[in-house]
Amino acid sequence: MPPSPPLDWATETLLADERAGLLRRLRRREGGSGPRCVVDGRAVVVFSSNDYLGLSVHPTVREAASRAALELGVGATGSRHLSGGHGAIADLEETLAGFLGAATATVAPSGYAANVAILEALGGPDATVLSDAGNHASLIDGCRASRSRVAVYRHLDSVDLEARLARAEGRPIIVTDSVFSTDGAAADLIALDRLARRHDAWLIVDEAHALGTTGPGGRGLAAELGVAGDHVVRIVTFSKALGAAGAAICGAEPVRRLLLQRGRALIFSTAPPHPTVAAARAALGVLMAEPELVLRLHRRARLLRLRVGERALPGAHPSSPIVAVLSGDPVRTMELDRALWERGYLVQGLRPPTVEPGTSRLRLVASAAHSEAEIDGVAAALTELLSP
Ligand SMILES: Cc1ncc(COP(=O)(O)O)c(C=O)c1O
Repeated sequence: MPPSPPLDWATETLLADERAGLLRRLRRREGGSGPRCVVDGRAVVVFSSNDYLGLSVHPTVREAASRAALELGVGATGSRHLSGGHGAIADLEETLAGFLGAATATVAPSGYAANVAILEALGGPDATVLSDAGNHASLIDGCRASRSRVAVYRHLDSVDLEARLARAEGRPIIVTDSVFSTDGAAADLIALDRLARRHDAWLIVDEAHALGTTGPGGRGLAAELGVAGDHVVRIVTFSKALGAAGAAICGAEPVRRLLLQRGRALIFSTAPPHPTVAAARAALGVLMAEPELVLRLHRRARLLRLRVGERALPGAHPSSPIVAVLSGDPVRTMELDRALWERGYLVQGLRPPTVEPGTSRLRLVASAAHSEAEIDGVAAALTELLSP
């Protein structure tokens, strides 16, 4: 074969990642989206899903998605600025804004796009974004796309944030996950809000892992803590507890108008497909009609945390279904991930860059759809593997 420098570079890069234990491989999953399925040919119970309430397979949600496909078709046919401004999206926004007590909600094709779009809309070269070191990759990429100055403050450290705010140039924007996806820890939104008010800053809160799991009726962490105001923007995703896909950015009227004006990730992307919009609307309806689902999730989350015991990383929000077990080394983490799969449990190992170097971990996620026996089972398998 003739030499191919581009291909040599690709092969070398992948080999380096493999040597460091950081190579990512996709698994093949068969069966539906519920917690019991087949992965790489083995029947497993899934403990790595974001479908916290089991709504991805809820009959009402499935039926709504099917009906939308039959009645309206599938693709939205374009960005909402072109041909994709369907009424069902506007209805979903209105219902969501009412549920969350927000002035407006603006739907985005994904949580990733929502986070990039809000930072594009509010940021700019005249702004400094103050970003928690543990923030989700989509917020990090949003900071870059916004062309703002960026100051990263220590994870969950409002004292460090305050010091950086004091030095920040231009318009300050504080951005944080509300419940962090890698360990279930909650941001101190009350302290962040106090600082935002003192420094006339925006406060952007990504509630991806809090909608449906945290706060009154699953309304999220800001609702639980009473953090609200024109300067507060909340991002909620339909891809986690609502079991669908897409997201919404919730905030004051000018925030929506700026998003439609400057949020490139929204403006230049096709609107979500009809079945997805219908599924998100139906799942929201189930959440509003059956708040006991959230309580069931809390019971399962408590049981998982109890069974994993002192191996669980401390500091998670009490209602978070995420239980992290530190393993440190990426190679060891993926050995444990594989050993759990061999025992019939899909538990995702997290390695850099998802988490900081030296903090690789197993991330177990409880769902309202798990049985108590399944939770006992995964905890027993983990205990066996971690026992000396
Ligand atoms: C905290 C957080 N924000 C945003 C996203 C992106 O959401 P989506 O998967 O809907 O693009 C995720 C998903 O992994 C997330 O964990």
